[in-house]
Amino acid sequence: RSTCAATSSTHPLLRRRGYSSESAPERKVAVLGAAGGIGQPLALLMKLNPLVSSLSLYDIAGTPGVAADVSHINTRSEVVGYMGEDQLGKALEGCDLVIIPAGVPRKPGMTRDDLFNINAGIVKSLATAIAKYCPHALVNMISNPVNSTVPIAAEVFKKAGTYDEKKLFGVTMLDVVRAKTFYAGKAKVPVEGVNVPVVGGHAGITILPLFSQATPKANLSDEDIKALTKRTQDGGTEVVEAKAGKGSATLSMAYAGAIFADACLKGLNGVPDVIECSFVQSSITELPFFASKVKLGKNGVEEVLDLGPLSDYEKQGLESLMPELKSSIEKGIKFANQS
Ligand code: NAD
Ligand code: LMR
Repeated sequence: RSTCAATSSTHPLLRRRGYSSESAPERKVAVLGAAGGIGQPLALLMKLNPLVSSLSLYDIAGTPGVAADVSHINTRSEVVGYMGEDQLGKALEGCDLVIIPAGVPRKPGMTRDDLFNINAGIVKSLATAIAKYCPHALVNMISNPVNSTVPIAAEVFKKAGTYDEKKLFGVTMLDVVRAKTFYAGKAKVPVEGVNVPVVGGHAGITILPLFSQATPKANLSDEDIKALTKRTQDGGTEVVEAKAGKGSATLSMAYAGAIFADACLKGLNGVPDVIECSFVQSSITELPFFASKVKLGKNGVEEVLDLGPLSDYEKQGLESLMPELKSSIEKGIKFANQS
């Protein structure tokens, strides 16, 4: 039996444990917002993933071109583009995983919460369609503000009677990707072997990288840790400012989104010990949603791991982030329950 060409690669997106493209189960993945800045490179990366058998690319405009383009790549998945609300049901039917990068990005001077007014409505309508057409799919929420859009989706699913807390994920992987990169640079260690948990939420000080738990260990000063923490928290703003009005992170986000989606698919397929950070329903703090390390399994979240030992600096960071995260969660819940 021939294994897929990607098997020999060492890259995590392409490396497979014992799967050939023939033996991997059928998995339908949808990207909602597939013609956007994140959506297009994410569509490309999902097309490269041999765990995907059917790739559904949905947007309100532009998907025929993106789908035609991506579909010519000689990898396993069948690609279909869907455009406009009347095609959303078809895009979602039978999905195992739905990734949502739909919505407007920030411009310089804006906070993620400034996106709430537009993106909350988009997420609400997409979640409503997911509840109707693929209620059992895992959902990876990328649209900002993640601290509010995840609670919005949860409320929509609850109202529809389809909520399964194990299946809804806020994608905070880009914070982890950044923390790993910045830590490796400062610690002067090869980035491939670096691990840094990032907990809390996905906006400003709610992003709390736990450099005290970073591996491999490095002897960094308190000043270094503070600077690394601030750079991780401001990573999105760094990109927004550099893009000077042309949007926010798209390429690094597509990479992070593809890594996280791949972890979800591995979990669904029964690969053991798949652990990544994500913003999920949680009881490890007093808040109903919180990002932390999560073990992924055949039904989505298998276990929400607790925070582990924190440094005094991280304990302070945790205390400071709670009020802001609480109010963003409540804002999402309130919005979803308005008529
Ligand atoms: P973009 O404007 O380039 O693309 C967004 C796409 O969403 C567009 O193609 C648009 O047509 C589409 N869209 C709008 N309404 C839709 C609807 N109802 N259904 C389906 N598609 C719809 O923006 P982008 O740079 O790709 O960013 C998208 C979102 O991702 C933003 O909210 C941004 O803040 C967020 N983001 C999150 C993270 C994260 O770490 N979670 C990182 C980067 C960006
Ligand atoms: C990011 O972290 O890059 C995203 O949340 C986009 C943004 O607005 O910063």
